[in-house]
Amino acid sequence: MLQTLRHRLEFLVFQLIVCVIDCLSPQTAARIAENMAWLVHYGLPRQWTRYAVARNNLQTAFGNDYSDVEIEQLVYRMWTHLFRTVTEIVQCPRKLHLHSYRQSIEFADFTRTNQAVCSGRRVLVLGGHFGNWEIGISLFGLWGFPMGVVAREMDNPLLHEWFRKARELTGHRLLLKHGNFNEMTRLLEKGGNLGLLCDQDAGVRGLFVDFFGTPASTFKSIALLALEYDALIIVGYTLRLPDNFANFPWPRFEVGCEALIDPRNVTDNDPVHEITRQFTQALERAIRRAPEQYFWVHRRWKSEPRIRRKRDLQRLAGWPKTSACGILVRCLKKDLIMPQRHRLASVSDLADGQGREFVVEGRIIALFRIGDRFLALDGICPHAGGPLARGTISNCMVTCPWHGWQFHLETGQHVLNPRLQQSAFPLIVDGVEIFIDFP
Ligand code: FES
Repeated sequence: MLQTLRHRLEFLVFQLIVCVIDCLSPQTAARIAENMAWLVHYGLPRQWTRYAVARNNLQTAFGNDYSDVEIEQLVYRMWTHLFRTVTEIVQCPRKLHLHSYRQSIEFADFTRTNQAVCSGRRVLVLGGHFGNWEIGISLFGLWGFPMGVVAREMDNPLLHEWFRKARELTGHRLLLKHGNFNEMTRLLEKGGNLGLLCDQDAGVRGLFVDFFGTPASTFKSIALLALEYDALIIVGYTLRLPDNFANFPWPRFEVGCEALIDPRNVTDNDPVHEITRQFTQALERAIRRAPEQYFWVHRRWKSEPRIRRKRDLQRLAGWPKTSACGILVRCLKKDLIMPQRHRLASVSDLADGQGREFVVEGRIIALFRIGDRFLALDGICPHAGGPLARGTISNCMVTCPWHGWQFHLETGQHVLNPRLQQSAFPLIVDGVEIFIDFP
């Protein structure tokens, strides 16, 4: 009851703000956004505005490239950009139309985007918390290229409904990030397209690829969907350009394609990692053009790689290079990352045709028994994180209990798509105990 009341009050305030913004001219809205940014950045306590998070992220990304004063300025300009983005999202349905968008949009290297959307293949349009992502997505809708736009469900259902309607105005369909994976795959199966943010922290189960030179946990489902559905990936951006209200009625943006990734051209042994690396690097390149237009208060490097030994190595590598320990570490580095043997279970722990999950060095291992044979795979299904150990076993294959992907137990290879490879681990069975050699 109290919660419903709170939601209604929040929505009422939000509606009032929307009404006011909608009545304003773009110049006035921009000026008010700038004042709001000043108020938030200089007027509120720094812990409320997550200043430390923004500063740490900027230092992680750019090292010592920016002085403290420059970082301060950058964060202030980030808030200005964010407040302006909100006013533009509110005014977008009124201002951005098929007959008017050319006044506000400049295109950069858009041929590749056109080729992709006209190719007849499925397309995944990726963006980040950069520029005015919503404007870019709306444009695709205006051009008659509807997508399933994946977004997080908001806590307030009334606000969520408002944003859903706003996003679906141009023909897109909102898909919820949590719980709508089946809808995503259904849409792709029917030949549909998806719009996703690719810079969200994916937790410890994510794939770690370098973002500004530091490993960042990234959702591997994007690469997996591209491989599974042979979809092209467009890494797009919508960059704010300097205002020119004297000649143009609305803020101006550059819409571009930073990279077009075709999974057919990825020949790497680990295509999921390679595709994830490529789109993350492309987003980084776009952000470097205008760092103040990136949402630095979101914790992109929240999760850390969980390979403890690797972290230990890094710590050891920090020892003076000339010290005896430093030299020893470098000489023995190979030995240190040699596989290590761990006891997994007793032979009697598993019945024939059964699978069980074990955690080794923070990694989930699925152990299976077929007759007298024991086999081990990475226990997390690469599709959407399903528990492979709870899958059904038949013909030396395991079927994931969530959506039915199948993997060969001996090789870890996906049954239908040989490019998808689940890690398989060698086991040592001494008659009573089962050991795993863990790299
Ligand atoms: S999680 Fe979808 S098939 Fe495994």
